[in-house]
Amino acid sequence: MKTFPTSAVWCLGILFISVSLITTGSSEVQVVGPADRVVAVAGDDVILPCSLKPSVNAEDMTVEWTRLSLKAENVHLYRQDRDSNEDQFPSYKGRTSLFNEELKKGNVSLKLTRVTLSDAGSYRCFIPTLTSQVKETTVQLLVGAVYLPVISIAGTKGWGVVLKCESGGWFPEPEMEWLDSSGTILPADGPPERHRDPEGLYTVRRHVTVNQTDTNNFTCRVKQLEINHPKETKIHVPDYLFPKLQVGLIVGLLTAAAVVVLAASGGGVYWSRKRTEEKKLRELLEEREKKIRELLEERGKWAVVLLEFHI
Ligand SMILES: *[C@@H]1O[C@H](CO)[C@@H](O)[C@H](O)[C@H]1NC(C)=O
Ligand SMILES: *[C@@H]1O[C@H](CO)[C@@H](O)[C@H](O)[C@H]1NC(C)=O
Ligand SMILES: *[C@@H]1O[C@H](CO)[C@@H](O)[C@H](O)[C@H]1NC(C)=O
Repeated sequence: MKTFPTSAVWCLGILFISVSLITTGSSEVQVVGPADRVVAVAGDDVILPCSLKPSVNAEDMTVEWTRLSLKAENVHLYRQDRDSNEDQFPSYKGRTSLFNEELKKGNVSLKLTRVTLSDAGSYRCFIPTLTSQVKETTVQLLVGAVYLPVISIAGTKGWGVVLKCESGGWFPEPEMEWLDSSGTILPADGPPERHRDPEGLYTVRRHVTVNQTDTNNFTCRVKQLEINHPKETKIHVPDYLFPKLQVGLIVGLLTAAAVVVLAASGGGVYWSRKRTEEKKLRELLEEREKKIRELLEERGKWAVVLLEFHI
């Protein structure tokens, strides 16, 4: 007699649960998608969320994933306990799957591998076998493309070094900025140069003139707000690339120049003095020669000897 009430409670409990399961299973189950759009980077795998709420087993249901393009494309079809992709749109071939272990929990999310830019768009998750009002949901997929920027040294300007940063293949159009080693944004040499290639991908280029700092480390960062996958590259600019006042060299040059100037002026004085002296001497000699000639004429040989001795 003691066990009877317990058994009764159990029976009632099981009955209640069964009834509520049948009820929800038939009409209250809804298809639920993500609150926000799904963002992926080209080349990655992505999950497009879709599930049943409350979570009932979906293994026996039909799950249709389509992309709502101009014409709906069959992305993935699950029916009668298996994938049934005979009419799948070619670009999805071999890239779609459901999570088999998750189906019994009502999780009918789609896995899409190796996402491409052309996969972007609206995807419909539809469960036609449900009897409820909400049998479908739409998931927006945004696909971006990101690439590491490349930095090069473009030359010098004033006392600074000009750096160039370039990054191509982006989608959507990204922002590019230069930072110093403390993360402060540096004033770039003008706005970024951008161009879009025929495939719709963006290339961005931006120059900055950097001054010498304690680290000489600089960063170029490219980012796109919606896809939020910033990419950055750092560069260390060696000290010797910065143009500088070569103090030693200049002092040396100045000294050399001064010596040359001094030598020139000093030498000039010397030479001009020497020339004057020579001129005087020559005049003197000429004068004496003249005198000698006079004396020769006047006094004969002996006087010449005397005079020569005198000179
Ligand atoms: C569905 O399964 C996927 C893969 O395991 C998981 O990432 C996702 O969070 C699941 N969704 C729900 C609503 O449980
Ligand atoms: C570098 O120095 C010059 C003058 O010394 C200054 O005008 C310029 O803004 C500096 N550049 C950076 C990036 O700090
Ligand atoms: C600067 O860059 C060099 C070379 O990339 C690196 O070894 C060094 O740690 C960096 N210094 C700082 C302060 O970031």
